[in-house]
Amino acid sequence: MISELKQELTNMINDVNSLNDLQNIKVSIFGKKGRITLLTKDMKDKTIEERRQIGQEVHQLKEYIEIIIKQKELFLIEKKINDDINNEAIDIYLPGMEFNSGTLHPLTITRNEIESFFNSLGFAVIEGNEIESDEYNFEKMNIPKDHPARDMQDTFYFSVEELLRTHTSPMQARTMEANAPDGPIRVIVPGKTYRRDEDDLTHSHQFMQIEGLVIDKNISLADLKGTLELFAKNIFGSNTKIRFRPSYFPFTEPSVEVDVTCHVCHGQGCSVCKQTGWIEILGAGQVHPNVIDNCGYDSNVYQGFAFGMGVERVAMIKYGIDDIRLFYNNNLNFLKQFDKIK
Ligand code: DAH
Repeated sequence: MISELKQELTNMINDVNSLNDLQNIKVSIFGKKGRITLLTKDMKDKTIEERRQIGQEVHQLKEYIEIIIKQKELFLIEKKINDDINNEAIDIYLPGMEFNSGTLHPLTITRNEIESFFNSLGFAVIEGNEIESDEYNFEKMNIPKDHPARDMQDTFYFSVEELLRTHTSPMQARTMEANAPDGPIRVIVPGKTYRRDEDDLTHSHQFMQIEGLVIDKNISLADLKGTLELFAKNIFGSNTKIRFRPSYFPFTEPSVEVDVTCHVCHGQGCSVCKQTGWIEILGAGQVHPNVIDNCGYDSNVYQGFAFGMGVERVAMIKYGIDDIRLFYNNNLNFLKQFDKIK
């Protein structure tokens, strides 16, 4: 009878396929009303001899069944681990996660290009503060308090003495003072500037300029022209020509406005250049003797030239961009177009 039960239980355990079912079988064998537990239920009715006999057999059966349950349990645990590993295997053929890397902003690209051109001519790159004093932004640049040139620019005042700089020109005075009384100076100053401009296709209340300043002996307008001609050919292409038009700035004398041949029609006349064949890119001139003297140099010994260009304007011409606001509103469709340009 015991050997039949042993066979029956062994078969049951062999057939089981999950840890859950094995647990249920364990209870059905060893639980309060389990098959083995019941074997010793009516022992009190048996003789001592019988009890000894049954006790021994039941004990052996119990040990045997416990061992095969343990073995089955280990087998099922290992099987579950293997099944889990197989089910959770990584599919190496799934497409990877997209990795978005940023690109340089077109203004940064343009600024870098202009900087490396002037570096190649021996100009140093310096930066100034965006908050500037009235004295340096205007007075030292030969623009006194009642000068009408102020009206075209000033607006972002912090106090009577301080404002957001309206141009990078104050760094001319600061650089001259830091180096006076002896030259030479050759610097460019890139940076943000702020104006009272209404924002439209070609104007923004905040934009970037690059100032240039050369101070040395025997500097003439011809040096300015030669430098800017090289600049224009380097940035816009070797066929580019430039022209000077007389103009007025309080800090230069003579003053000029500089045009380059239109990059679209190459001087023939088109809608981009308003049929003139030329596009204005910067203001420039010989540094005014008042500015030179104000900043610690002797204008009888030293001369210089200066220029100031809008970086947005250069980028717009170079890349055919028709709205200055595109530089500032973080439209990825616009910005991504520059990822091929270093
Ligand atoms: N500061 C001028 C402006 O913002 C630009 C300029 C003109 C700068 C002539 C110069 C210069 O250095 O010589 O409109």
